[in-house]
Amino acid sequence: MPLRVTIESPMGPLKLLVDHYQHDLLKDEDRTTALMSMVSEAVSSGGTFADLGAGTGPLAVVAALSGAERVIAVEINPRRAKLAEKNLRRYAPRDVKFEVVTADATEKPVNADVIACEMLDTLLLEEDFVRAVNVHLETYDPEVLPKEVHVGVEPVETAPPHPRYEARDPSGAEVLEIVDTNRPIPEKFRYETRWDSVAFHTWIEWDGRRIGGSEVFCPALTVFTRRRPVVGVRGGGLETLHVVDAARTR
Ligand SMILES: C[S@@+](CC[C@H](N)C(=O)[O-])C[C@H]1O[C@@H](n2cnc3c(N)ncnc32)[C@H](O)[C@@H]1O
Repeated sequence: MPLRVTIESPMGPLKLLVDHYQHDLLKDEDRTTALMSMVSEAVSSGGTFADLGAGTGPLAVVAALSGAERVIAVEINPRRAKLAEKNLRRYAPRDVKFEVVTADATEKPVNADVIACEMLDTLLLEEDFVRAVNVHLETYDPEVLPKEVHVGVEPVETAPPHPRYEARDPSGAEVLEIVDTNRPIPEKFRYETRWDSVAFHTWIEWDGRRIGGSEVFCPALTVFTRRRPVVGVRGGGLETLHVVDAARTR
């Protein structure tokens, strides 16, 4: 049974049909406001917009109302895709062509001037963000939103023996890397650490602020590193995250 929520967007309140998953995401107002604002600004001069991992379509609706001439919402979950279709039907102006594609965004790239992809997660480990963005960059030449994903680290008192996610404000984190999402993104990463226990942070920046670290959007990942480097594969899952052996650091 879909829920109906009202969210604030750059063009005023929007009443959207959502499922529980999308409902929880939209409750992170900083996340949602930042992404909607980025999309609204990027499509203001027209062109085709695509949201990869569109959910129930909040960013697609904002694009349709902000000047995009064509909007493509790509969503792997058929029930969410159906709700995105209903939301677009309600809000897209008559002269805006829209299409909801129920598909895996890593498999069949779509041609758009601007793509947004909020398949973001901590260290880009678990979700399909990197594969989806890379396949679009290889095939077409879109502007990708968010333009950058920031990775940082801070010391914590004691990390548990196994990596653990927890909501934590990234504002005090030391920057390790700024991932440019408009160039092919390397799948492997390696981060040096100088503390025994750390929290890795992942965030996007908007309006001079770091957005991330909430329960639903890039929670921090605490890791007991023993001051050793940490490696992993973006899109490969948490199981690819390893603290490098002392013997292999030399
Ligand atoms: C974090 S939600 C973002 C929803 C919406 N874009 C927003 O910002 O509110 C990510 C969505 O991507 C979808 N998804 C995950 N992997 C996907 C893939 N490979 N292809 C297409 N959609 C995918 C999920 O089903 C989910 O609805």
